[in-house]
Amino acid sequence: MQDETALYGAKMMQPQLTGVDAEENNLRPHHLEDYIGQDKVKQNLKIYLEAAKRRGEPMDHILLYGPPGLGKTTLAGIIANEMGVQIRITSGPAIEKPGDLAALLTNLQEGDVLFIDEIHRLSRQVEEVLYPALEDYALDIMIGKGPSAQSIRINLPRFTLVGATTRAGQITGPLRDRFGVLLKLELYSPDELAKIIQRSAGILDQPITPEGAYELAKCSRGTPRVANRFLKRVRDFATVLGDGIIDRDVALLSLKRMDVDALGLDELDRSLLRAIIEMYNGGPVGLETLAAALGEEAVTLEDLCEPYLMQMGFLTRTPRGRCATRLAYEHLGLKAPESSAPEDNGQQSLF
Ligand code: ADE
Repeated sequence: MQDETALYGAKMMQPQLTGVDAEENNLRPHHLEDYIGQDKVKQNLKIYLEAAKRRGEPMDHILLYGPPGLGKTTLAGIIANEMGVQIRITSGPAIEKPGDLAALLTNLQEGDVLFIDEIHRLSRQVEEVLYPALEDYALDIMIGKGPSAQSIRINLPRFTLVGATTRAGQITGPLRDRFGVLLKLELYSPDELAKIIQRSAGILDQPITPEGAYELAKCSRGTPRVANRFLKRVRDFATVLGDGIIDRDVALLSLKRMDVDALGLDELDRSLLRAIIEMYNGGPVGLETLAAALGEEAVTLEDLCEPYLMQMGFLTRTPRGRCATRLAYEHLGLKAPESSAPEDNGQQSLF
């Protein structure tokens, strides 16, 4: 089992972080009041945390779901910090056997947060071990085999599981039912992303104008991870080609050099839309067929491209497959069909 390093706070269990993780970690807010956006989630979470603290209880188990890069790990760290406890970070695929989970759980301290990213990828056997841990803070261990096998119960410290997933629909019912709090993260608005970029620029000591920040924000696909990545790359362009300051011109030039268009679509987004339009007559086309045509994994298209393309109104998902909208044709400079009969592609309502 690989266990990721822990983040956040003075009481980290494994504080050494390296490379990209360390850089991303520097930009993460550590307190709820520094966390920009997701206002509904923040307001409710604040109440739940305060109530748990006043009662002297650990926070109830929390499931965070939504597209990648929106700050699920960041929020888990904030939850631990606000509760004044340690966080232990791991992921569904890293917990291969029930024994791996048992080792993690028995090493927790009272009140700790256990963060399991990609929790939908836990195996069934591991999930079975998790149920009594979540409900009764206990592990049921089988000793021996056959008729003489015995089950013994080990008590665990009271802890909070924070599970994160990009695919809430793939979480089994029994697991979902054991979370007391379900929080859905939404894509961020350009205004929120501009604030995040300005905050990150401040931490990096990088001068940036509000107009420069806003140009980057508009192209960041509603995602802070993308916004912060752009900020770092545009900083390179500003350092080498400009006077070190990120203004509107430097931002626009850098985005163009990175093949990001005015609405934040990258080469893969545009290839996806072009494939639907040019190879499948605008759709509908099944996700797997589309993925094979593009030489990509279906999950890559579904998790990374589709949420933003749908938010922008370029793509629709129908029971018969994916369809490109009139806006997608227009954005790519292609001529949209005049109208389509229902049997053509089932998207007549779009035109
Ligand atoms: N960095 C990444 N996500 C953030 C957020 N939501 N608020 C502030 N900084 C962030």
